[in-house]
Amino acid sequence: MGTVDTIIGNKNVQLFDFEPTTTDFLEDVAFGLSQPAKSLPSKYLYDFEGSRLFDEICRLPEYYPTRTEKAILEASARPVAEAAGEQTTIVELGSGSHHKISLLLDLLSNPAGYVAIDISREFMLSAVEQVKSKFPSLNVSAICADYTQLKELPNELSHSPASKLSFFPGSTIGNFTPQEAERFLKNWSGVLQSGDLFLCGVDLVKDVNVLESAYNDSQGTTAAFNINLLQRINRELGANFQLQQFKHRAIFNSELSRIEMHLVSLCDQDVSIGPSTHRFQFREGETIHTENSYKYTVDRFQEMVKRVGYSPLRLFTDPEDLFSIHLLRVN
Ligand code: AVJ
Repeated sequence: MGTVDTIIGNKNVQLFDFEPTTTDFLEDVAFGLSQPAKSLPSKYLYDFEGSRLFDEICRLPEYYPTRTEKAILEASARPVAEAAGEQTTIVELGSGSHHKISLLLDLLSNPAGYVAIDISREFMLSAVEQVKSKFPSLNVSAICADYTQLKELPNELSHSPASKLSFFPGSTIGNFTPQEAERFLKNWSGVLQSGDLFLCGVDLVKDVNVLESAYNDSQGTTAAFNINLLQRINRELGANFQLQQFKHRAIFNSELSRIEMHLVSLCDQDVSIGPSTHRFQFREGETIHTENSYKYTVDRFQEMVKRVGYSPLRLFTDPEDLFSIHLLRVN
């Protein structure tokens, strides 16, 4: 890994780079497509183009989570700021929307710094640039990494006396299976310190039609987001997926309480990846499972965090109970 002081525009942002390599990507893709039920890790959906498309998803009329979470955050920012106190460092997992983080930073008294952790380096850097230009005197750092693999923050950050408020918005935690989420939360409570705060956005179980429309939007943006994964594999790994021969599908699996995104093969076809080494067969109707988005009840989520070292302090929801934001403290 390299620590790079990178000059973005003319503002100084410190970058810690643990970006996954192309080898990791090829191995993960080859493994996922060799399974009897084909799948691809959802983290690879978020290259620069995927992150851009996801941003677009966040503005769709059918996609209620983003605007609902923002409204909840606006209404709850004050109690959150009070719990955080002075001189807090905000550590954001993912670096999606600078609007959400600006909201928090605006309300905190004298924040000590802002650290973004994201797997998509370029996208993160453009996001932190916007934070830095809005808050020029704030210490801003960016860590390019898969945060599930992170065991500790870089020394410069972990040795700072400032308490931390870790922010994990957007219900990204729903990408993990409940077992993975529990493992991640446990690991993360070890990256943070006792007394630090964790603010986590969690999408709630609700009417199936509302859920399914959010992932099958009428403009086809979610479909483009899903198909972009194949495009990325073509581009970065030299594969020959025929994009018109796969179709986006999203369904709610109520038994497992999750939205599943799939790419359905529209015919019998072969795909090769790289210079001849990997070859995969698809039957008509066979799918590649590309993403899960788990939906929780408030109780189920709180039970989970309590098992792995957190105490729920406050719960914030919207009047329709579409979405929840949990304020937790590390024990
Ligand atoms: C970023 C994982 C929270 O699950 O709602 C949105 C991703 N995928 N539409 C979600 C997503 C398709 C999103 N998360």
